[in-house]
Amino acid sequence: MTSVSEAICFFRRGVDLQMVVGNKHKVRVGLLQPGVFIQLDEKWFNHPFLFNKFKLKNWGQIEILEKSGVKEVLWIPEKSDCWPREADLSKEPEPQMVMAKEDDPYLELMWRIKKEQMEHLKQIHENIRLCTRNYDRISKNVPELMKKMMTGSKEAIASAKETVGGMVETFLGDSDAIVHLINIKENEESIYHHSLNVSVLAIMLGKKAKLTASEMHLLGMAALFHDIGKSRIEKKVLKKRGPLNKAESAIIHLHPQYGVDILTKSGVRDVEVLHAVKEHHEHCNGMGYPSGLKRENISKLARIIAIVDSYDNLCNNQDIEKRMTPYEVLSYMYTKQQHLLDLDLFSVFIRSMGIYPPGTVLQLSNGEIGIVITINPNNPLKPSLLLYDPNIPREEALICEMEENEDIAIEKSIHISELPDKVRLYLSATTQVTYFMGKGAGGGN
Ligand SMILES: [Fe+2]
Repeated sequence: MTSVSEAICFFRRGVDLQMVVGNKHKVRVGLLQPGVFIQLDEKWFNHPFLFNKFKLKNWGQIEILEKSGVKEVLWIPEKSDCWPREADLSKEPEPQMVMAKEDDPYLELMWRIKKEQMEHLKQIHENIRLCTRNYDRISKNVPELMKKMMTGSKEAIASAKETVGGMVETFLGDSDAIVHLINIKENEESIYHHSLNVSVLAIMLGKKAKLTASEMHLLGMAALFHDIGKSRIEKKVLKKRGPLNKAESAIIHLHPQYGVDILTKSGVRDVEVLHAVKEHHEHCNGMGYPSGLKRENISKLARIIAIVDSYDNLCNNQDIEKRMTPYEVLSYMYTKQQHLLDLDLFSVFIRSMGIYPPGTVLQLSNGEIGIVITINPNNPLKPSLLLYDPNIPREEALICEMEENEDIAIEKSIHISELPDKVRLYLSATTQVTYFMGKGAGGGN
């Protein structure tokens, strides 16, 4: 609402303000009034408000600040509806003020809500830790599982069914199940992460597309092994940067059939799994490979895998320069790939992922910056974000559940490259996007 020059004029009018950094100014609590946007210079745990930055709504909040022992706050002019009051006005509150009383039950209520929020926060962090442990355990087993499958080992099927079964049951058995963003190091060997990512997202999409339990298990198996045929293709072709020549394309186009051969040799007899692996690169317009099938002839499981495979390949392109943010990927798929994908399933996918999928960095209307950490398929427009706050250790970072905070809106998405290093590190924002299923905030273990 005001420029720096206006603010300087304001100082000249004798108000006791002190410029601190950029567009933030220190101001005494006694000078505040509703409409001023403030930032508390206190640790989140030391004040009863749910956020460190917010616009003052009423005089009661100012009273609460005083009662909480806060002497000064930062004032952010751009986000304020008005300036702080001049010094001589601070002593006489206006008659219409709604004042908090000395033994104010409202203050007690705020602290009670805040404590519940702290407990809830602990629960979310515990769920994230549990989900990460489960991911680590399964991702460590996947390379061995793939190897066994490639050598035709019969025990590999039982082991794979157990792994997939665990993932499917998380979604089938728990209506509160959500998909978490997992932190892994950038550029870790990605082929197994890709298989797991595709499995997690395929199972989530399968659930939303109302597949039966047995279809979900078959889908999980097909998704986990959809690219196993690539093990028969030379690495120099697989890892080649830039466009492939005709011969190289022809070799790549063999991997769906190679996959079917490997799985059949290992004793996989489910035709649904074999069809899905064979057809995961078919396009609904008939221009895919290996057979150029049209939508009606492509199995439903293959159409599901094609969507999430494309999503993950675009997010985690092996050429880091070409990687897009999850937000950009959804927009790219929507504008450029609709003719390739099953539109009904794709719209279910978009509805499940929300506009801002996990891994997207957002700026909120109260100025906070956070990274989306979960997909809540039941309310995809209201993601949960882990917020940047250098005063709080990362493992205890604040989490804003948009569903619970109606006052807060998403202002814009921010590309990782625009973030200062300290913010990027705190948010663990990398170009590598990895997902795994787990409990929602209300869940235990
Ligand atoms: Fe593939």
